[in-house]
Amino acid sequence: MLVSAKGMLDKAVAGKYAVGQFNINNLEWTKAVLTASNEMNSPVILGVSSGAGKYMCGFKTVANMVNAMLDTMNISVPVALHLDHGTYDAALDAIDAGFSSIMFDGSSLPFEENLEKTKYLVNLTAGKSLSLEAEVGGIGGEEDGHTSMGEVADVNECKTIADLGVSCLAAGIGNIHGVYPDNWPGLRFDVLEEIKKAVGDMPLVLHGGTGIPEDQIKKAISLGVAKINVNTECQIVFTDAVRKYFEEGLDNRPKGFDPRKVLAPGYDAIVEKVKEKIVEFGSDNKACYKE
Ligand code: 13P
Repeated sequence: MLVSAKGMLDKAVAGKYAVGQFNINNLEWTKAVLTASNEMNSPVILGVSSGAGKYMCGFKTVANMVNAMLDTMNISVPVALHLDHGTYDAALDAIDAGFSSIMFDGSSLPFEENLEKTKYLVNLTAGKSLSLEAEVGGIGGEEDGHTSMGEVADVNECKTIADLGVSCLAAGIGNIHGVYPDNWPGLRFDVLEEIKKAVGDMPLVLHGGTGIPEDQIKKAISLGVAKINVNTECQIVFTDAVRKYFEEGLDNRPKGFDPRKVLAPGYDAIVEKVKEKIVEFGSDNKACYKE
């Protein structure tokens, strides 16, 4: 059964580790992330952007697929199905479809509107097994049509949104979606420290997990980051592995054109990448509870 991300994130703050959000794109992706998490005995958050949801025939299809997989794969670790960067309407749709966690990204709206809509969703999710992530300060880069200059979050705005009672807070600290440019100056730990001081034990979310050096990941976790989102890195290893399959001419073997054979190296590469991230984030063997 799907669980809200709240319990796993509160536990991560207390234990000083982070739970990975791995975005999913299709059945193979979902199976790979679930397999890796179950083998590592780690809680996990499956991220679904609106674009990926549309690609997979809508949030209802995704929720039904994931629920069925938890059952048939005998998944025993806590799993949250989470809307990534949702608009207000997408948040309502995902809740309706049975998602157990929602991100409302109002960071591109005027702050008062972000506050008002986040507040409404806090009330809507209160008392239900549903977690809510809010965002302050845009995350850099481009993802799913969301483009932002990667502003650094305002600490007072972070506190105001956190005080509404959201489950976790994404705050821009110089992080960028996608591959980091060579001249990227790194995470703004000074800002992260200020935010942490202002919001106390509120789990903080680090978007753009792809390509952040391990020492910066570890430092961010020590300063209150309890959820780290990874998408691009899984896409890259998947594509590299499938490309290699063709480059080695493996499609020319008898039945080498079978899509289950073609996609298998990509699947294996995601399993390995997710396991590597789980160890880096410190969430291995932290699945000792169910909500
Ligand atoms: P990356 O694609 O950079 O890993 O970021 C993922 C993300 O933040 C999803 O919200």
